[in-house]
Amino acid sequence: LKIFRPTWAEIDLGRIRRNASQFKRRTAPAKLMAVVKANGYGHGAVETARAAEKGGADWLGVSSVEEGIAIREAGLKLPVLILGSLYPFESFQEAAKRGLTVTVASPDAARALEEATGRHRFKLQCHLKLDTGMGRIGMSKSAALQALTALHSSERARVGGVYTHLACADSDEAATKEQLARFKEFCVEAGASFDLGLRHAANSIGALRYPEARWDLVRPGLALYGLVPGFEPAMSVKTKVVFVKNAAAGAPLGYGATFRTRRASRIATLPIGYADGLPRSLSNRGEVLVGGQRCPIVGSISMDMMLADVTELPSCHVGDEAVVLGEQGGERVTASDLAAWAGTIPYEIVTGISSRVPRRYLEDRP
Ligand SMILES: Cc1ncc(COP(=O)(O)O)c(C=O)c1O
Repeated sequence: LKIFRPTWAEIDLGRIRRNASQFKRRTAPAKLMAVVKANGYGHGAVETARAAEKGGADWLGVSSVEEGIAIREAGLKLPVLILGSLYPFESFQEAAKRGLTVTVASPDAARALEEATGRHRFKLQCHLKLDTGMGRIGMSKSAALQALTALHSSERARVGGVYTHLACADSDEAATKEQLARFKEFCVEAGASFDLGLRHAANSIGALRYPEARWDLVRPGLALYGLVPGFEPAMSVKTKVVFVKNAAAGAPLGYGATFRTRRASRIATLPIGYADGLPRSLSNRGEVLVGGQRCPIVGSISMDMMLADVTELPSCHVGDEAVVLGEQGGERVTASDLAAWAGTIPYEIVTGISSRVPRRYLEDRP
């Protein structure tokens, strides 16, 4: 089906490849796990994974068996770790069949893994997850030691790694160091009796700020997509003006008439709204780029449309390109800008760009 609606996301695969290789260089000799969960943070999991592999990724990280299967069905052979706490436990077998490594985050999961391995031909690869202060999924040190003992004596399960996740890498140094100290304590104690395989703890910011968090492998998501300073943003969201009008001073605009023009204005309508993932909290907040200029968002963001004040751009016409996220004529709106205006985080901006917005890939030409 030909898509006429002129709203799309552009994904620059060369930038993802370069971000991966820069990250790997900066955190060497750690191995690199490209975190491509949530459809590669909205960038396309398979395309991102391929670009990251070209940039030197050794592993891929996903959140569910389904995301792992999509990677395998695309023919990618890199080892894949499912970062989520799997349930129901029968999904362990599906993971094993597809050559996916599972996370064992609880003593129950460890028991289920042993039972699953008893009944099936597949060798189940797993990494044990420790909760060192994130408080989400993972085991205490003593539970993890028990699980390790049980799984090491099981014939068909292989513990290929142990890991934890940092809660405050970007906000609280003391809390991060505390988590890293707990993880180290576990690795030293357990490592005296067992081969722990890959030890890992760091997301993008954790790995960049805390060399001691890198261990054997780092797990960047945000930096891969260029959403950390020093890396190149890979996603742009673009649309085209579909309607322009002159509005008299005092004219109400959009649902709820939350904006009234203060002067005679020129108003452009853009075919992008909250159903495309543009947060409704951008209503009357922030800017879009048209004609290389920053134009204020006016009125409520509606489901499929939004309005921009283009009074300063008398030449603005139907068909002009508008950039909601990305660069135009030397100006730039970043995911952090959108997140700050909308009261959220860049992760939510990029993962929120909905499936209605077609992704166009700028191929990598190294
Ligand atoms: C377990 C785990 N590791 C790594 C990452 C990647 O984090 P970031 O995008 O901050 O680099 C995530 C993302 O939330 C995660 O859940």
